[in-house]
Amino acid sequence: MPTQVAGCYPSRHEKRLTLKDGREVFQRPVLWTDRELILDLFNRISPESLYMRFLRHYRVLPEDMLYHFTHLDYIDRFALAAVVEEEGKEAIIAVVRYARDPQEGLTDLAIVVRDDWQNKGLGKSLLLGLIDAGREHGIKRFVSMMDPGNTIIRQTLARLGFEASYSLKNGVFQVEIVV
Ligand SMILES: CC(C)(COP(=O)(O)OP(=O)(O)OC[C@H]1O[C@@H](n2cnc3c(N)ncnc32)[C@H](O)[C@@H]1OP(=O)(O)O)[C@@H](O)C(=O)NCCC(=O)NCCS
Repeated sequence: MPTQVAGCYPSRHEKRLTLKDGREVFQRPVLWTDRELILDLFNRISPESLYMRFLRHYRVLPEDMLYHFTHLDYIDRFALAAVVEEEGKEAIIAVVRYARDPQEGLTDLAIVVRDDWQNKGLGKSLLLGLIDAGREHGIKRFVSMMDPGNTIIRQTLARLGFEASYSLKNGVFQVEIVV
């Protein structure tokens, strides 16, 4: 059974964006019916970007992850997708998500933008949208694991003006973002 029920989908987080290159994108919360579109996104991201997102080399997106990515309560588990029309069909070109672990008191955040849509302002818009959604639910601190060489996400967070602190743990950076 889907976690999402009618009336729960937060349509207030839907937004139309015009990117730096003038292209239009629809930003909206992820739906449980997005499974195929998210699989398609996974299959069309470069190995380098996938590694930066997951910090490991997945050839196939594990089924339990796909389930978590598409089954949201929009409170502790929230995700936004950027959607466009390609060849007459909907395509998801980027996803940002958070997951709060009430026991650990931590909220994990992760983002990926398909390579051919990077550096057009999508990452910043999605992060702002997700952070807004988190704030509505009292989340003021996010953590994310990132590769030490990932200068672009550091630059993105700096451009947004968030307070970010970095610590090295077992060869990966943990970034903590206070909003
Ligand atoms: C990190 C990532 C999400 C950024 O998304 P994006 O849509 O490309 O970012 P934006 O276009 O909003 O750019 C944000 C800032 O990053 C910088 N930037 C983005 N792409 C860049 C590039 N190719 N070269 C140099 N700077 C770049 C710019 O300074 C930009 O700010 P500005 O527009 O004010 O100049 C994207 O690169 C990505 O998906 N990377 C792979 C996955 C990943 O690293 N995830 C983060 C860990 S979970």
